[in-house]
Amino acid sequence: MKKLVKGGTVVTAADVYKGDILIEGETISAIGANLQDPDAELIDADGLYVFPGGIDPHTHLDMPFGGTTTKDDFETGTVAAAFGGTTTIIDFCLTARGAPLEKAVQTWHDKARGRAVIDYGFHLMIAEMNDDVLSELPRIIESEGITSLKVFMAYKNVLQADDGTLFRTLLSAKEHGALVMVHAENGDVIDYLIAKALAEGNTDPIYHARTRPPELEGEATGRAAAMTALADSQLYVVHVTCAEAVRQIAEARSKGFRVFGETCPQYLVLDESYLEKPDFEGAKYVWSPPLRTKEHQEALWNALNSGELQTVGSDQCSFDFKGQKELGRGNFSKIPNGGPTIEDRFTILFSEGVCKGRIGLNRFVDIVATRSAKLFGMFPRKGTIAVGSDADLVLFDPNAERTIAAAGHHMAVDYNAFEGMKVTGEPVSVLSRGQFVIREKRFVGKAGAGRYLRRNKFGEASYVRVE
Ligand code: URP
Ligand code: ZN
Ligand code: ZN
Repeated sequence: MKKLVKGGTVVTAADVYKGDILIEGETISAIGANLQDPDAELIDADGLYVFPGGIDPHTHLDMPFGGTTTKDDFETGTVAAAFGGTTTIIDFCLTARGAPLEKAVQTWHDKARGRAVIDYGFHLMIAEMNDDVLSELPRIIESEGITSLKVFMAYKNVLQADDGTLFRTLLSAKEHGALVMVHAENGDVIDYLIAKALAEGNTDPIYHARTRPPELEGEATGRAAAMTALADSQLYVVHVTCAEAVRQIAEARSKGFRVFGETCPQYLVLDESYLEKPDFEGAKYVWSPPLRTKEHQEALWNALNSGELQTVGSDQCSFDFKGQKELGRGNFSKIPNGGPTIEDRFTILFSEGVCKGRIGLNRFVDIVATRSAKLFGMFPRKGTIAVGSDADLVLFDPNAERTIAAAGHHMAVDYNAFEGMKVTGEPVSVLSRGQFVIREKRFVGKAGAGRYLRRNKFGEASYVRVE
């Protein structure tokens, strides 16, 4: 039952040091120099970094969306996550107007139970705030430990909620200790621009980006931040893509408001020109908000380095090119939005961030693991390497070089968004609560081994309850 990780360089959000880690059962029981334990299985980490397991705060697995369902489910998605160095995900539980929240949560439990190979929690979408939702919400927050609520400001007539719902959600979150998350784009104006583009015969994937300009992301981000300030609540803006939105978050934070921001690997390394790839291949790069021009990438990296943005989520929402992305041939608005990113989030951040000098090692760990644990009520059980924490560890070779390719990736989809990208650094072995999930680059985990995480309320610093 014991394991001793020896000779690695331990990296947390605060420290970098040579140290051994003793694991007893599911947790870390000792950290120190030259630890010995004759009963422990030795794991050689010489020449490797030992990182806390990555936390991906933004995934959509087995989710109906855009007239189809995401290709990766809780099994394929979490296997791919583990290969990429992620040991915890938080997935979005969709709800429908007028239906009980509890029913949606049970549906999401059914999707994940028996399939996830790493630990997982849920965020809960609020489609419409009304008296029924208001009365059901405190129980969901308390007993399910779902302490983050998602409001979509875009996807008109599908997921979009109105400003009244967002404001009432912020008020309720303040009262009950939840963090409100927003997809910040002005859905009403986008709806108009899409109809206009299609009426003018502009149907190619690039018009997805042209009908969702950065001004509309900046505007929605500022609107959500203003409501947060008025409600004295807390806000997390998902998938920030542009300088306009970063400015709104930075301004709110400079005034002392509890406003946080996440970006995603695709916005850091891909740009709008990908949407113009021939033979409809641009559809592979349709995300909302869309990929931006290169200048925005610099703004995002700077914001991650300065702390104006705090996290990088994958926004994993994968669809095959064949048969799924192709639903939008002849009409860009019917291309299912999203892409496969869960496997490469951690390594891209290391390779493009740390290796290229854009962020330091400690900041890297904060961005890919620690900050999400803190914001989403899981710290210090998750997101760090400390005595008493879960033994979620990534043994990472910082010198490995490889080229990302769909051939050989572990997601269920037929393409990789980062195809051909050369990266430095690779997870070699990954442990979840003391058990190998990946050992020497081979999957040795088990479907159903992942546990549901009941998370603490926003701002509460104590251990998560694990079922
Ligand atoms: O295009 C995206 N981002 N798809 C996933 C759904 C969402 O908006 O996060
Ligand atoms: Zn979104
Ligand atoms: Zn998303």
